[in-house]
Formats: sequence, structure tokens, C-alpha cells
Amino acid sequence: MAVEEYLDRTLTIELGRCTEAAAVAASTMIGRGDKEAADQEAVTALRDALNLLPIDGTVVIGEGERDEAPMLYIGEKVGRGGKKVDIALDPLEGTTPTAKGMSNALAVVAMAEGGTLLHSPDVYMQKIAIGPGYPEGIVDLDAPTEDNIAALAKAKGVPTSEITLCVLDRDRHADIVAAARKMDARVAMIGDGDVAGIFHTTDPSTGIDMYLGSGGAPEGVLAAAALRCVGGQMQGRLLFRNDDERGRAAKAGITDLDRKYGLMDLASGDVMFAATGVTGGSMLRGVRWAQNKVHTHTIVMRSKTKTVRYFETASLIPK
Ligand code: FBP
Repeated sequence: MAVEEYLDRTLTIELGRCTEAAAVAASTMIGRGDKEAADQEAVTALRDALNLLPIDGTVVIGEGERDEAPMLYIGEKVGRGGKKVDIALDPLEGTTPTAKGMSNALAVVAMAEGGTLLHSPDVYMQKIAIGPGYPEGIVDLDAPTEDNIAALAKAKGVPTSEITLCVLDRDRHADIVAAARKMDARVAMIGDGDVAGIFHTTDPSTGIDMYLGSGGAPEGVLAAAALRCVGGQMQGRLLFRNDDERGRAAKAGITDLDRKYGLMDLASGDVMFAATGVTGGSMLRGVRWAQNKVHTHTIVMRSKTKTVRYFETASLIPK
């Protein structure tokens, strides 16, 4: 095996170590009602862990612009030198569920060859995603929700009543929910965490067929990186509420503000992805502290080989 390939394999596992560290740190703040403090714990731990990696990494999706985020800001260099990579991260995807002791919070990182992850500004993104195994293009971001449900049901060979949409529970999604009701489809509402929501479309055991709606654009890129590793389809379009957000897009080098991005536009190239559960969810179990050890549950994946690896770790509780 070529050295380069061996390094990628080990890096994927190492990325899981990084999300483990972030999740363990964030878990100390579960249910304490302070989402900023929970995020800060995760950020500090993730940054320390990334800085141990043999990479020349640049954060392209991070905690914000340099002037608003002291750590893991967009453009920050991480690693101790080596392979040149872009990094997309969300040290704590689900700050509110962590603060409230609710489910589905994750620590997430994706890593890819330089220039292959969309340098998305921190704005909203309209998203649609389905799992693998369907003909390309059967659903479309610009099609009415009713048509997408009907097309997916036809491709799956089931009535529309057996299609389940995952939607963030927000007033802005009332139209999607109304369309689903009209088609007799089910809606699984999630309070937060659309990286997990989108990933759920790839796992038949979750019962989720399609993800629809708007959420964070950085989360959209992270979800796309995950889909690249397991298959599935996704489209997204950035949504801008004001000139400040349009300015952020310009700063990120985005000129076509209405562009519809496909999966490969969001995350092309070879991608590695890692996530560790902070609070328990249907994708990953949360961090558990027991006696003298802390237990974590992590997924690591690589688009090149499509390997999906879950690992459980029990480590001594640091003094
Ligand atoms: P945070 O962890 O940054 O709070 O994000 C959680 C999240 O639910 C994302 O998964 C999602 O993309 C976004 O917030 C939705 O934004 P909003 O809460 O403004 O609808």
C-alpha cells in the first residue's frame, strides 16, 4: 500500500479521536443550561486535538470569521505539518440540545483535499437529501414538496403514506409539513441537528426517507461530506436575509448567490468524516461517564473506500 493511502487510513481514525475529545469536553456541560460554555469546551478540545495531527490544515468551515471567533475561525491553520487539507468542523452540532440535556448533539469534523469543500458563509441553506439507491435526480430542490414525495414513493415502490420526511421543527417549514399532510406522508420533526437529520436518510433503520428544509449552511457542507462517504443525493442553495450575509458570501468568494449546489459542489474530492455523539441519538450514543472511564461512540468514514467504521471507546477519566 502506498504511504499516502496508509496516511489517509490512519488520519481517518485520528479524526475520530478528535471528535471524541470534543464530545467528552462538551459532555461536561450537558443539561447545565449554558450553550455557549458547552460550545467553548468542545472548541478548545477539538482545536487541541487537531493540532496534534500530521496535517497542514486550513479551517474552511469553522466557528466564524476571525474577528468573531478566537478559536477555529475560518482560515485558521491547524495541525503540526504534513498533508495539505481543508477542514470543516462543528465542535458541537446541537448546542441547545446539549444545554437542555436533549438528544442528537454531535461533535463533527470533515477533512478533504484543499479546495474541495464549499467555503460556505455562516448563513442559512435550503436543503433536500435522500439516501442511496435511487436514480439520480428523482427529487429536486426547486420541485414542489408534493412532487418530491410522489417521485420518491414511486421510486421506492410504496404509497406516499409510507414516506417519512425529516424536518427541523420551525415555523418556516409550515409549507413543507402541510404538503406532507396533503400527501398523507409522515413527518419526523427534529428540534435541532440537521447533520444527523440528513445522515438519517442513508440508514433504513431510522425510517427517514427524505430531509427537507432550511438550516445552517456550514451544517449543509458537513452533511454533504457525510453523504459522499455512504452515497445518497443532496442539493442546497444559500439563503440570504440581509446585506451583511451577502457580504459574507462575497468574502467567501461566492459570486452566484442563487446557485443550486449539488452534492459534488458541496464536497468534492476525497473526504474523511468523523462524528462522536455528545447526547444520545438515533445515529450515535451519547457520552457516558461510568466509574473511572468515559465511554464514547464514534463513526468515521472515507469517501474513497466508502468504509464506514463505528467505534466505542472507553478511556480513563483524565485527572
Ligand atoms: P447549533 O449547534 O449551532 O445551535 O446548530 C444547531 C442547528 O439545529 C443546526 O443543526 C441547524 O442547521 C441550525 O441549528 C438551524 O438553525 P435555526 O435554529 O436558526 O433554525
